Amino acid sequence: MCDTDFYDFIANEYDIMQSDLDPKAWALFVHKLVNTYSTKSTKGEGNQGKKVLCDLGCGTGLVDVEFDSIGYEVIGIDKSLAMLNKATQLCAMKRKRILFINQDITKLDLHGSVDVFVSLLDTVNHLDNLGSLSVLLEKVKLFMNPDGVFVFDLATPKHFKKTLGNNVFFEDYDEFTLLWANSYDTKTKTNEAELTIFRARDDGTYDRMDGQIEEKCFSISQITKLAKKNGLIVAGVYGDLEFCPPRKEDERVFIVLKKEESK
Ligand SMILES: C[S@@+](CC[C@H](N)C(=O)[O-])C[C@H]1O[C@@H](n2cnc3c(N)ncnc32)[C@H](O)[C@@H]1O
Repeated sequence: MCDTDFYDFIANEYDIMQSDLDPKAWALFVHKLVNTYSTKSTKGEGNQGKKVLCDLGCGTGLVDVEFDSIGYEVIGIDKSLAMLNKATQLCAMKRKRILFINQDITKLDLHGSVDVFVSLLDTVNHLDNLGSLSVLLEKVKLFMNPDGVFVFDLATPKHFKKTLGNNVFFEDYDEFTLLWANSYDTKTKTNEAELTIFRARDDGTYDRMDGQIEEKCFSISQITKLAKKNGLIVAGVYGDLEFCPPRKEDERVFIVLKKEESK
């Protein structure tokens, strides 16, 4: 089991905070990338020849239920037990069978190999440093089938520097109010979001929760170097949910890694 972190405290609020997300569009975009880059085998290693997809930092499972609907056998991994509890509830409601594992993705340990790894919505930016990212890539290489792919997104420098920057944001939802004091350090390329949530109680008073989420801004050239070091290659780089190269104004990019020997 992993330590408690801020996602344990915001698990109940997370889906509301992501209400602009279209999980089906994300799953279909990733699926198209998988079909583009995983060309050799049509059959996966899962039950009934399904491709096994492992979501690293799956959160509340919003995109995983869509991967299941597309036809993947899905494994979701997250270090927050509270996020996984929400994911389990969502699966029960949608009548999906997904295996959720409470694990730190930098200590990834699976019983079998996987056709597709994904890590979505800035999860890779949550890794502390290049060392942790390198360890993750080493594990992905170890557990990925020869024709497998790893698809993940990264928040761009534009997102951290310009959109978030050193600013304060607030959002007043029906269920709670969120204050977000952001700071971005251009030297260390570290983004710190100081979050405060006020949640109304039945008696009209409020619960207050404070916490911090730290993210790192990684560049494509850093990813390329670390991929190579770990026997992987950058097979494709895409803009924000678009099948074209990233544009200057993109807030996120998608990266596809494959095993070097599968070239
Ligand atoms: C921004 S959320 C994204 C959740 C999910 N991928 C989605 O699409 O909604 C980041 C998630 O990554 C998880 N996470 C961050 N670092 C992790 C790590 N080292 N190991 C496992 N999970 C991690 C957090 O607990 C959180 O659920």
